[in-house]
Amino acid sequence: MLFGRTKPLDAVLATAEKKGLHRTLGAFQLTMLGIGAVIGTGIFVLTSEAAQKAGPGMLLSFVVAGFVCAVAALCYSELASMVPVSGSAYTYTYTVVGELLAWMVGWALILEYAVGASAVAVGWSNHAVGLLNGLGLHFPSALGNADALNAKVLLAFGAAPSPDLTTALQVGGWINIPAVLIVGVVTWLLVIGTTESARVNAVLVLIKIAALTAFIALTIPVMNAENFTPFTPTGGAGVFGAAASIFFAYVGFDAVSTAAEETKNPQRNVPIGLIGSLFICTLFYLLVASGAIGAIGAQPVTGADGTVLAPGSAEIAGRCAAIVASGTIEPLVCSKEALVHVLQVINWPVIGRLVGLAAVLALPSVVLMMMFGQTRVFFTMARDGLLPERLSAVHPKFRTPHVVTVVTGIGAAIAAAFLPVGKLADYSNSGTLFAFLMVAVSVMVLRRTDPNRPRPFRTPGVYIIAPLSILGCLGLYFSLPLTAILVLPGWGLVGLLIYFGYSRSRSHVGRGIIDVPEMDSDAPPVPVPPMPGAPTPGIRQA
Ligand code: ALA
Repeated sequence: MLFGRTKPLDAVLATAEKKGLHRTLGAFQLTMLGIGAVIGTGIFVLTSEAAQKAGPGMLLSFVVAGFVCAVAALCYSELASMVPVSGSAYTYTYTVVGELLAWMVGWALILEYAVGASAVAVGWSNHAVGLLNGLGLHFPSALGNADALNAKVLLAFGAAPSPDLTTALQVGGWINIPAVLIVGVVTWLLVIGTTESARVNAVLVLIKIAALTAFIALTIPVMNAENFTPFTPTGGAGVFGAAASIFFAYVGFDAVSTAAEETKNPQRNVPIGLIGSLFICTLFYLLVASGAIGAIGAQPVTGADGTVLAPGSAEIAGRCAAIVASGTIEPLVCSKEALVHVLQVINWPVIGRLVGLAAVLALPSVVLMMMFGQTRVFFTMARDGLLPERLSAVHPKFRTPHVVTVVTGIGAAIAAAFLPVGKLADYSNSGTLFAFLMVAVSVMVLRRTDPNRPRPFRTPGVYIIAPLSILGCLGLYFSLPLTAILVLPGWGLVGLLIYFGYSRSRSHVGRGIIDVPEMDSDAPPVPVPPMPGAPTPGIRQA
């Protein structure tokens, strides 16, 4: 039976009971946790990519993406509260729709977390390079991005030579060294067992909020209504295309769901934390995007033949370089640090640099959260027997899953070294959307198959919300660029080969081994006190 292997929910719940975390988190802390995990490269960098796709219509894109996340979040919360092992869509689907689909979800989560971490690392690199350059310490552009390499690859694969590609070859870079460095540092922090404390998270949230507030306060007064027309230069397709990309700006809220088992009164506080953090982020995103559009305009850049160029492509990199070389002010859509750039154009260069500094300080924690998420998914899959057991090895001194962490770090560093941020975010989104879709399916299946199990949080109007989430995920997925659409089935195919060639015969569930480990089956054996006051989970391998 292909779909028959499910992990017994009772075994998973026994694990959670053994862990016995205290319920210490309230609505406010959960909201802060959500904002800390969500605000990152999406708003600081991808705003320019969204503008390239939708023009000022990106305001609608932010609303669409925020709505899809909100309904997905409501579904996530029900499973998170009733399968309260801190963790991910992988565990939820394993207990509900079976091993094969859980494997596919876990496999897709690699895209969400590891590739997502690479995207945030590239966004960080953009700001770090900008900051160094602003301080007069010129960072060689050949080592600060991979635009020239991407142009070369395009040409090698038969793209027609164009002035834009030639410019990209001349002025673009070959490898993104700062992005590799930050992934390396975060990997090292995770290996030695660093997790982010609530206090550090609170400080970083304040830094991000302060930066965005300053941006809004300085741009809104100089808004020019003319910059909003034409509002949707690329039509509805552009708006949805931008929504599919800017969806990345909302990813990370699952940090709130996964803290469900440490939450006081989760029925009330988890939805407040989820919806509250999404609402606050949406509000900030809309104000920031409005300020950026109003202050300097957000019309897409077109190629020599008048077509709107794809964001993140070598062509647009070359086109933008040519525009800057001609002495014209760099358009928003060309900037690698969108918000810093807007403030510089409207004559607030120092505040602009401080906003850049805020990104440099705060984005590494988003990289850390995403890589941490990846290590816990890998770790659980390895402990379930689906990946080599060696991957779940624990470092003798640091008590961390160092092997999976280093493997994740190497993968994320390679992706960050050679791919542009927009492409990475789109690939990450394709995996995330699949995982969210499966969660929405699972929540409905479990209502039917196990209606009486206690649900600390119930998705309101589940038969409306869950289908809306599924539709939203499908709609955004099919609005992604073709390569990102193809990445998911391509990646999935590799996953299926590994599953049937390796994992299926070694699966613990398949072999009748029911693990009830001492500690949370879904968390790596590191001391993880997400908030002060919460006891540290046990440190023991199953
Ligand atoms: N939402 C996170 C970001 O934008 C992943 O960086």
